[in-house]
Amino acid sequence: MNKALRKVVIAGNWKMNKTPAEAKELIAAIAPLVKDADCEVVACTPFVDLTSAQEAAAGTNIQIGAENCHWEVSGAYTGEISAQMLTSMGVNIVIIGHSERRQYFGETDVTVQKRVRAALDAGLTVILCVGETLEQREQGITSELVAMQTKIALGGVTEEELKRIIIAYEPVWAIGTGKTATAEQANEVCHTIRECIASVYSQAAADGITIQYGGSMNAGNAAELLAQPDVDGGLIGGASLKPNDFATIVKAATEG
Ligand code: PGA
Repeated sequence: MNKALRKVVIAGNWKMNKTPAEAKELIAAIAPLVKDADCEVVACTPFVDLTSAQEAAAGTNIQIGAENCHWEVSGAYTGEISAQMLTSMGVNIVIIGHSERRQYFGETDVTVQKRVRAALDAGLTVILCVGETLEQREQGITSELVAMQTKIALGGVTEEELKRIIIAYEPVWAIGTGKTATAEQANEVCHTIRECIASVYSQAAADGITIQYGGSMNAGNAAELLAQPDVDGGLIGGASLKPNDFATIVKAATEG
């Protein structure tokens, strides 16, 4: 496996944080700290912050992404946002299948697949989240579970389209808990996902796909996680709201 074949992506997942004015301030604070990064830097923000975040990110190396999108182009889906609405705003990257969507909003592997399909059809790049709960890890089914989530979500996705998929391995027990997976645990599951991609697509597809780790990644533990051979970046929640911490993670990725 050659890590040099893959793009390294550090993406912030702001979740339900920051008003539009605060988003502008946060991007403005992050931008000078990450300007020399030689990895991709993304901030996924709440829908209402997209415009102000884009304005603040104009002319910088920060891409602004969204945190979800619906599978239909338009229609009677109160509270939802379509992939076309995002692209019409100049957004080109979206998180799909985050465990908080699965846990709190009834997202299933099947709805994740539908959202992935719609996002790809609209031309978006997808950060697809997969990961096991603590109970599933303790049952010893992490590998099977994560492979199944990956396969279902990517059902119907071609090898060409896979170039616009980033997979984020996010153990649910590590998200927002301060409990990070060990570097070995993170690498092991990222490797399992890569093997799954090799079995469904090809070794070249597996070698080329970016697989991030997410779950309490922070300024202190990022370097060790990102140095792992199968960890090609991070999806960062809490620490993405702290400019210095986020910049430290970006720096670690560049060196990792
Ligand atoms: P965390 O969130 O870094 O706050 O654990 C990661 C995520 O949910 O993407």
